[in-house]
Amino acid sequence: MSNTMKALEKSKPEEGLWRIEAPVPEIGPDDVLIRVHKTGICGTDLHIWNWDDWAQRTVPVPLITGHEFAGEIVEVGRDVDDLEIGQRCSGEGHLIGHHSRQVRAGKFHLDPETRGIGVNEQGAFAEYLRLPAFNVVPLPDDIPDEIGAILDPLGNAVHTALSFDLLGEDVLITGAGPIGIMAAAVARHAGARHVVITDINPARLALAQHVVPSVRAVNVAEEELQSVISDLGTSQGFDVGLEMSGSQAALDQMVEALVMGGKIALLGIPPGKSPVDWSRIVFKAITLKGVYGREIFETWYKMIAMLQNGLDVSGVITHRFSAAGFEKGFAAMKSGASGKVVLDWS
Ligand SMILES: NC(=O)c1ccc[n+]([C@@H]2O[C@H](COP(=O)([O-])OP(=O)(O)OC[C@H]3O[C@@H](n4cnc5c(N)ncnc54)[C@H](O)[C@@H]3O)[C@@H](O)[C@H]2O)c1
Ligand SMILES: [Zn+2]
Repeated sequence: MSNTMKALEKSKPEEGLWRIEAPVPEIGPDDVLIRVHKTGICGTDLHIWNWDDWAQRTVPVPLITGHEFAGEIVEVGRDVDDLEIGQRCSGEGHLIGHHSRQVRAGKFHLDPETRGIGVNEQGAFAEYLRLPAFNVVPLPDDIPDEIGAILDPLGNAVHTALSFDLLGEDVLITGAGPIGIMAAAVARHAGARHVVITDINPARLALAQHVVPSVRAVNVAEEELQSVISDLGTSQGFDVGLEMSGSQAALDQMVEALVMGGKIALLGIPPGKSPVDWSRIVFKAITLKGVYGREIFETWYKMIAMLQNGLDVSGVITHRFSAAGFEKGFAAMKSGASGKVVLDWS
């Protein structure tokens, strides 16, 4: 094995990513080395590419980016006794500490010390990735690498969608990005009655309708949500809302479209502060839950179980490129017409 590898790096504090030759990471006693096969490009990676305010505040330069991956273990640290060379895997990209009250209580996803691969630490857009063995999630044989590479965002969708009981409920999802579309598939799988997904981008709505034919995709720039509610025959509105756009307009619309006592899980990240009509939320007795990342490792367990039991999100992958073609991948992301974009490192 050569001791250098190809990787995509934020090498300079400006727009873009650069394909570099980097040293293969050295692993510690509790780590594994993963030969990366496939990676997904995330909206976060696009922020880092664009070098927006958030990226400038958050990401050190130089840094190998990327956090959505699947691959195969090629080396195990001295103290790792439960993983073997050759094991296919994905993994949790949030590296937790061991000190906080939350972690000591077993709520790993709520650790305030969390550091992200590809954001704060060296990432997965590379031929090799060092990862603590604790973070590894083995992949069953029936889950292909390209699905393994999108388990991180599927995990966001699953974590959000399973925040509230969906069985027999009417569910509104705002934002038909890759995560919203996967959440729609999860909501159907979890037994929701009606699932409506909104967007203002026709390409995204068409993709949602294609990936999850049984959802109703609504272009809120053209159609009134209220008339959809009447059409569906739900007398008061939706029971549960999953906000996956980060748009203030979408949240306002969701609050209006919910039943009294409805519940909202918020995943979408608004670009800055935004005005919220709190009295409307209070008088409708709405429960709001902020959602960050995935539950470590309960979400991983659930999503793999659902994938093995009929959940199909494969249609959300719309573009596939070799790692060398990463610029085309980022261009597809920027076009706004893509679902998930997957890069092949094998
Ligand atoms: N909380 C977390 O841990 C976490 C993790 C991953 C992603 N996110 C956030 O989740 C959201 C979804 O991620 P994604 O990758 O699918 O994002 P995305 O940007 O691809 O999709 C968002 C979609 O919302 C649509 N939209 C914009 N205005 C709208 C409106 N008024 N009504 C309905 N839809 C509207 C956009 O057209 C777009 O298709 C993003 O805001 C992202 O930043 C949060
Ligand atoms: Zn991601």
